[in-house]
Amino acid sequence: MKKFEGVYKVKGKLATLNSSPGFRVYDERLLNKGGCEYRVWDPYRSKLAAAILNGLNEFPFEGDSNVLYLGASSGTTASHLADICSHGLIYCVEFSRRMMRELLQVTAQKRNMIPILADAKKPEQYVYRVGSVDVIYQDVAQAKQAEILLRNTEAFRPRYGMLAIKSRSINAVKSPKQVFREETEKLKGKFEILQNVDLRPYDKDHIFLNLRVKK
Ligand SMILES: C[S@@+](CC[C@H](N)C(=O)[O-])C[C@H]1O[C@@H](n2cnc3c(N)ncnc32)[C@H](O)[C@@H]1O
Repeated sequence: MKKFEGVYKVKGKLATLNSSPGFRVYDERLLNKGGCEYRVWDPYRSKLAAAILNGLNEFPFEGDSNVLYLGASSGTTASHLADICSHGLIYCVEFSRRMMRELLQVTAQKRNMIPILADAKKPEQYVYRVGSVDVIYQDVAQAKQAEILLRNTEAFRPRYGMLAIKSRSINAVKSPKQVFREETEKLKGKFEILQNVDLRPYDKDHIFLNLRVKK
């Protein structure tokens, strides 16, 4: 069964078609069906998987989409996007050298993932390494999350954005509701908010926004 382009339900589990057969990124299960190998996509490890299971209703990724991924970490979610956008490129920005070392193990196998060691707050550091971008996916657990997305949107002019916002990283004193409201307000000039997906029970700390850039 197909959920969205490149996203499947296999043996009752959310999964993507493995673009590097035999290779696992985070100890996920590999499932064979109809002569194809799928990677089980764990909603407790990936907010995008959680959002899909919780009723995400528009999916901006296509087989040939180019994605700018801010906060790629060791590549859990980015590797599933690499399976989905197997004819596109996933530009993976990560500023921790430790995470980058792990990410490089993954990008060596998934050749459409481009590792970029840089600070997502400073798109000028990597603008020359990134081609055209259809979607920006951001999950950086930082202060100033809306500002980071807005700055990258100015620099790369995508059509869509996806943002996982962690309230505690922005302000640990204000209520999460207030932080989410304030961050969403900052985005409204630039983006149409397509959906705000509650990630519980998979994740309790974030809200997940699906965004379309206003024309
Ligand atoms: C919650 S983790 C991301 C998990 C990942 N999105 C996934 O689902 O596989 C956040 C990551 O963002 C990175 N990060 C935080 N601030 C950043 C910045 N300003 N620039 C680049 N990476 C950043 C952290 O080092 C961390 O690896």
